[in-house]
This record gives sequence, C-alpha cells and structure tokens, in this order.
Amino acid sequence: MKEKLLLEFEQVFDNTNDVHIFFAPGRVNLIGEHTDYNGGHVFPCALTIGTYAVARKNNSNELRFFSMNFRELGIITVALEQLVYDKANDFANYPAGVIKALKDHGYEVKEGMDILYYGNIPNGSGLSSSASLEVLTAYLVRELFGFSYSFLDMAKYSKEAENQFVGVNCGIMDQFACAMGKAGNAMFLDTNTLEFEYAPIHLNGMKIVIANTNKKRGLGDSKYNQRRAECERALTLLQTKLPIASLGELTEAQFESVKDVIEDEEIRKRAKHAVYENQRTIRAVKALKENNIGLFGHLMNESHISLRDDYEVTGEELDTLVLAAWEQNGVIGARMTGAGFGGCTVNIVENEKVKEFIENVEGIYKEKIGYAASFYIVEVGDGPKTIL
Ligand code: GLA
Repeated sequence: MKEKLLLEFEQVFDNTNDVHIFFAPGRVNLIGEHTDYNGGHVFPCALTIGTYAVARKNNSNELRFFSMNFRELGIITVALEQLVYDKANDFANYPAGVIKALKDHGYEVKEGMDILYYGNIPNGSGLSSSASLEVLTAYLVRELFGFSYSFLDMAKYSKEAENQFVGVNCGIMDQFACAMGKAGNAMFLDTNTLEFEYAPIHLNGMKIVIANTNKKRGLGDSKYNQRRAECERALTLLQTKLPIASLGELTEAQFESVKDVIEDEEIRKRAKHAVYENQRTIRAVKALKENNIGLFGHLMNESHISLRDDYEVTGEELDTLVLAAWEQNGVIGARMTGAGFGGCTVNIVENEKVKEFIENVEGIYKEKIGYAASFYIVEVGDGPKTIL
C-alpha cells in the first residue's frame, strides 16, 4: 500500500520529498440509528478500512488536493485565503471545510499542502467515507503543523465542517467513531453529553459482514435533513407537555403518555423511532456486556423494523438485503446501518455460515433488484494513525 501511494504521489506532485502517510478509519454503526441528533445513544465501531493520505507542506499559499478515487477531477486547488464552499471543488470541500473549521478554532494553517487521498471504503455506502476524510485531514494537519488539539476535538471540528461548510446537518456519531476508534471495541456514546465507554466486541465464532446495496446516494440529496426537521418539530410539541431538551431523555412509557400531543401521524412515528431506538441501544449494549449475543441480534432486527416502518429510511434495496439475511441460517442479527436510503446493511453471522450467507443473499438480491450487492467481512480497527 505504502509503495503504491508514494508512486502515485510522485506522478501527481513530481516528487515525494518530505511526505508523510496518514490513515483514518471508516465506521460501521452496530445499533443506535438516527439517534445522534436527538440526544440519544449510538454504538458504532471503527473499521480497518478507511482513507489514506500522502501529504506535505508545499511552501505556497495553496492547498492542492488529489484523490485516487476521483482521478478524473485532477488536482483541485484551493487558496488558503479562499476557504469557502465551491460545488466545483467536489470532494475537496470536505478537507477545505476542516481546514476552515480549524482556523475558526485558532489553528490556522499558514502554509499550503500537497495531499493525495486514497479511500478503500466504498464512497457513499454509509460507512462514513466523508467523516473518514474529514478526520484524516484534521489529524494530518495536527501532525504536519504541530498543533495540539485532541482526537475528540478532531471529531468536533470535522462535524462542524460538515454542518457549516458542506451543509449536511449530521450528528457527531461518524466523526466521533472515526476519530476515537479502538481495535476490538465499539463505542457506546451518549451524544447528549459526549460521555462514552469502549465496549469489547467478543464475537466468538462470528463475523461482522457488511452488505452494500450499491445504490448510490449522498446525504445532501437524501431526506436526511428532512428527518432531522421532523424530529425537531416533534420535540417542540412534546416540550409543551414535558420539560425535556431532547427526545433522548424520554423512556418509552413517558413517550407513550404524551405522544398524542403530536397530531401528525408521520411526525409521531419519527419521534417514536428516536425514543425507542435510543432505549434499544442502551439495552443492546447491556446484552452484549452480559454476553447475550442472541438478544443483541434480536434488538438489531427490531432496529431495522423501526427504521423501515416508523422512520421510513430503508427502501427496497436495504429491505431486500435484510429480509434475505433474516432467512439465513447462522444469522444473529441484521439491519441497515448509517443514514439509510441506500448504503449498507450490517450482519452478524456465524463463521461457518458466512460463505453460504453471502451466496444466498447475493442471489436473492440480484434476482429482485436486478444488479449485484457487494459483501465485506470487516474487522474492528483503531482511530487515525501515522504510517510514515
Ligand atoms: C449519518 C450521519 C450520522 C447519523 C447517521 C444515522 O451517518 O452522518 O450523524 O445521524 O446518519 O444514524
């Protein structure tokens, strides 16, 4: 990998003088979906796949970005005094946005950089290719310029870049998971307080298998921001009955006792998902700690049903993959992961059944949807690191 990246950097930027190589992971969320902007809990883990960068300072006032995933775009140049969103800059808006957020927090990058990126997470698949790119940029800037912000700060600044520069109203889960990942562990995060704990994933005799619908989508053009607004509307109505600051503060029983204040059935369903999914996540982590993987899997399945019926963010492709998974032997749990509308499912499958699982689900999906899904057996990895 190192050699391949260096060779490519040399072809794009002439030589490899003074370069360093950095990596930041992608993530998969095991349970706790669409709870992170509702003050609820999430339970993601970082992956060993992610994004690499070869980078150096370039003694100019220009940032020069190149991505091996979007070669056709060539080098995208952004002047340090011109850190504003520009549609034509495509993926480079993510790193430019991070560099702008860092500046706003007192970490001004005063010299340009040459940066080559390469990601081995499928783009737009719901495994956080964009958060990985953002956190990687925050990390490499810290290393190249000797700044001292923490990994948690990297997550916060990256989220800010996505919210304010790119314009996607996401929560903190993805950037947090990419920045704070720890091999062998998932992170149980309270998005209200940012308190969190690492929970070891002992999947004895099981694997995490990710299935990609290969349906293209981006958060910007999805209904993501709309769902967020619906939850905010629900909260405002519930606040006329209870002194709460977020949906994540409610138990199921509390919600049931006041839900009629939300007259619009659709909005009520959105709020129900946010409340129930948060409680489900708390229960799932408890089950995992007690080694009750069966219950954990069952709660994953329930999470999918809630995302399908109440939150309505699944769609035919994700539902086909999950329904097919539920029919297979050796499947502990299966659900969509990430924002939804496309992207991936996460499945916990017994080792000896993985091959059969992939063959069968692949067949059912192709038959029904008309094109192929992709499958990845993933490992739980660490946060950002320096490779060279
Ligand atoms: C996307 C967002 C996250 C989170 C998930 C849904 O991945 O970036 O903040 O809201 O969707 O759980």
